[in-house]
Amino acid sequence: MDERDSCRVLIATQNTGKVREFRRLLSGIPTEFVGLGELEKVEAPEEDGATFLENAVIKARYYSRHFGEFALADDSGLVVDALDGAPGVRSARYGGDGLTDLDRLHLLLENLRDVPADERTARFECAVVVIDPADDKDFLHSLGTVEGRIIFEPRGVNGFGYDPIFVPLGETRTTAEMSADEKDALSHRGRAIRAIAPALSNLVSNP
Ligand code: IMP
Repeated sequence: MDERDSCRVLIATQNTGKVREFRRLLSGIPTEFVGLGELEKVEAPEEDGATFLENAVIKARYYSRHFGEFALADDSGLVVDALDGAPGVRSARYGGDGLTDLDRLHLLLENLRDVPADERTARFECAVVVIDPADDKDFLHSLGTVEGRIIFEPRGVNGFGYDPIFVPLGETRTTAEMSADEKDALSHRGRAIRAIAPALSNLVSNP
């Protein structure tokens, strides 16, 4: 079979929480999705872009070139107004190496300790990029955002990362207190994926 006939899509992230969300969100697209964990180990690229979109392009391009296959990557993070947009593109590295997701969440709460409820506005942002290795200059991309606020104490055990301290606008529960389907319906990643899904479906059907 020609490599182009198989046209499976790599989900270019090592984050198992994200792989789970991507698989759910892309389940309607008639192609095989493969997580990086199922492939030979490759060193991750440096994510030195200034924006979520730049970092998503870096990751999708890197893995698509390496494996010679379609690659879908996202870059996402939490943007907190009272912290001048931090942790932003550094969300996964906030506070430096060696911290767990839980450590980072507590560091964020500590840095917001004196910020009153009405100034704790924040949003999750997500850029999704799909790169075709045959033409990696012309890529698909979309952006998704969910507005909300940071609460004072973590609540809930679902999701990952900063979910236990983020309450979406118009909601009373954190995204860690929602079911997977509820989070997908309003999340930054859900929005970005739904926006790109028709073009991705078209791409894999007509490679
Ligand atoms: P990335 O892998 O560079 O995109 O890292 C994104 C980081 O942002 C994650 O490690 C989380 O800390 C945070 N993040 C992104 N999306 C979510 C989400 O849906 N819930 C909670 N945290 C998230």
